[in-house]
Amino acid sequence: MTRVLSCVQPTGDVHLGNYLGAFRNWVSGQHEKDVFHGIVDLHALTVTEVPGVVGATTIDLAAILFAIGLDPDVATVFVQSHVPEHSQLSWVMECTVSYGELSRMTQFKDKTAKRENKFISAGLFTYPALQAADILLYDANEVPVGDDQRQHVEITRDIAIRFNHRFGETLVVPEAVIPAAGARVMDLQNPTSKMSKSDSTGAGCVMMLDDPAAIMKKFKRAVTDSESEVRYDVEAKPGVSGLLDILAAATGQSPQEAAEGYTQYGSLKVDTGEAVVAMLEPIQTRYRELIDDKAELARLLAVGAERARTVASVTLQRAYDAIGLLPA
Ligand code: TYM
Repeated sequence: MTRVLSCVQPTGDVHLGNYLGAFRNWVSGQHEKDVFHGIVDLHALTVTEVPGVVGATTIDLAAILFAIGLDPDVATVFVQSHVPEHSQLSWVMECTVSYGELSRMTQFKDKTAKRENKFISAGLFTYPALQAADILLYDANEVPVGDDQRQHVEITRDIAIRFNHRFGETLVVPEAVIPAAGARVMDLQNPTSKMSKSDSTGAGCVMMLDDPAAIMKKFKRAVTDSESEVRYDVEAKPGVSGLLDILAAATGQSPQEAAEGYTQYGSLKVDTGEAVVAMLEPIQTRYRELIDDKAELARLLAVGAERARTVASVTLQRAYDAIGLLPA
């Protein structure tokens, strides 16, 4: 059976980009494939300096993941720090990736540029090694992610291939699975940048838990251009194309099909906002029910961690054995 692994960082509220680029596809495969989804709290430590914050966002994110429809009977949802094998394999991965490869990661360059005058942890640099461990521990065949994670999956493949070359066939080489629509949801105020919890002005980022009025307001204020023709053209019309991408992803069409029939930006904005509200409202309702029962969420995460460890511990031992570490 195809094994799937993908993760999300608990670094603040999750947004429409996370949903359309990743979460939605996590749910759609869960009954045909063996799926593992992690809330990667150790990754969040690369930028965390205040006590107590990561734990709170982790439980919140767990409620969202079950609210989008991940079924705890079939999907393994776990917290990264509950599965110590992630940190253990991460060191092996750090020793299998080069300084040069890590230096070329665009996310490292972007993130450090944005943290000018702030503390830049070594973890921000070695981050892809931990991500490789996340993926390779589960023998994942597929990694459903948004377009911004393509390079991280590529480096994971390179690390796995290098490990196998050095120590013999041990790790499964994964493939990134990027959705046809919604792979790169753009900021509504700054449509040449991807929607992101860290760089957005707030007005350009639609949070999954925004109420319908806030969502409509953000869409109505979306930046477009001084023309009035509704046409999908990412270079010339990034704002309009960003809206069409979202409308297409929410309604199951191509962006070109979504553009048909529109002669004004105003109605495109309203329809896109309404499609997003309709898509998110049932998730928000389920989230409100789930977040009220934190004990049940903690129980589900404990079950997830147990299942995750069953798989991860075997892979870690296989890697140690392949290297030839002295058995304990
Ligand atoms: P993170 O937490 O930033 O995002 C989680 C998922 O959301 C996708 N995404 C987007 N998709 C479309 N448009 C956007 N604007 C947008 N913004 C975010 C991301 O591509 C991702 O799929 N490094 C990862 C977390 C991670 C991981 C892993 C992912 C750690 N280990 C192992 C997969 C496998 C990250 O920071 O994602």
